[in-house]
Amino acid sequence: MDLEPTNPPTPSVAKQSADDPNPTVPHRRRLRYSGKYPRRFEEKYKELDPARDEATFRKVLASGKTPAGTHRPILVAEILEILQLAPGSVVVDCTLGYGGHAVEILARIQPGGRLIGLDTDPVELPKTEARLRSGGLSSDTFSVHRSNFAGLPAILAECGLEGADAILADLGVSSMQLDDPGRGFSLKHDGPLDMRMNPNRGQPASVWLEKIRPEQLAALLLKNADEARAPLLAPRLAGQRFSTTRQLADAIRSVLPNAAPNDVEMTLRRVFQAIRIAVNDEFSALDALLRQAPACLNSGGRIVVLTFHSGEDRRVKSAFAGGIRDGTYSEISTAIIRPSAEECRSNPRSSPAKLRWARRAAPNAGEST
Ligand SMILES: C[S@@+](CC[C@H](N)C(=O)[O-])C[C@H]1O[C@@H](n2cnc3c(N)ncnc32)[C@H](O)[C@@H]1O
Repeated sequence: MDLEPTNPPTPSVAKQSADDPNPTVPHRRRLRYSGKYPRRFEEKYKELDPARDEATFRKVLASGKTPAGTHRPILVAEILEILQLAPGSVVVDCTLGYGGHAVEILARIQPGGRLIGLDTDPVELPKTEARLRSGGLSSDTFSVHRSNFAGLPAILAECGLEGADAILADLGVSSMQLDDPGRGFSLKHDGPLDMRMNPNRGQPASVWLEKIRPEQLAALLLKNADEARAPLLAPRLAGQRFSTTRQLADAIRSVLPNAAPNDVEMTLRRVFQAIRIAVNDEFSALDALLRQAPACLNSGGRIVVLTFHSGEDRRVKSAFAGGIRDGTYSEISTAIIRPSAEECRSNPRSSPAKLRWARRAAPNAGEST
């Protein structure tokens, strides 16, 4: 992100002196950067802490960018309308992220409701929990679980619940993960080629890429990102050791010496996406969630899934259609719901989002919810 704060904010260092005309106003010292404006992610992250400078934060939002270290929830009004929450509702947010959707859900289910929040990311989850709990939420109202959503049935059992009234899954990575070079997803800032949502599990993308065979990589580039140049790219990338995101990006660029800049940019994004999906085994987790969702929903309960590329959307569409055929769902969305032009303008990261929903049918005799 190109964040260009003017008048950078300062830490609130209270300074008072005898000749200070207004001793109650804390002295604000300009933050020091290596240049005029913050360039490094860590500086931007500090700069844009909303608690420190609300004006800069709002300015970045108004410019259509996502302030560093935050995430903007997508299709909030549409999701709330579909979920039809009420005080007492039991809701699962499978992808807590920054908690943007969760905050809106919590406001609608109290008193008496419960929100079960899941996320696989051990780095961001404690920050989100602390932020959401700062309002004084009890663990009866809001519980947080560092878990892959493929394990949803076990989490519900752990919470003593047979089912939920609503399930939300907002797939993919958060802006915090995407923008932090240390996580290895970023195309803009160099960082270790990692890409794991949970850095404590699995192998970093650098190791994964070094072990994969060209024919396997070619198949994955097609399957995970519809990458038409897969046969050209795979032999140049598979089996190679790229330690950083920039090294991988440069290798991809070197395969496309004559392509237009926009074309190169789109190819970079697709290759990074395909590798991220594979490293995090994202399709297996989504398939497990879609398979288990009917059994995790109360009768009449709804599931909403937000997808960001065709590989995800195809799975959701097919699972929901299958649920109508076998009677586990009574109703499903007939058309994809997309962000409005206004939402895409104010938050360009919402542009690829597609939303589908399904409603749990009353279970047949002998079938458990
Ligand atoms: C797009 S963000 C969600 C943003 C959130 N709705 C908000 O309003 O801030 C996706 C989040 O889902 C998490 N995630 C992705 N796949 C997951 C999985 N299989 N199980 C649990 N969490 C997952 C990521 O770590 C990330 O934090």
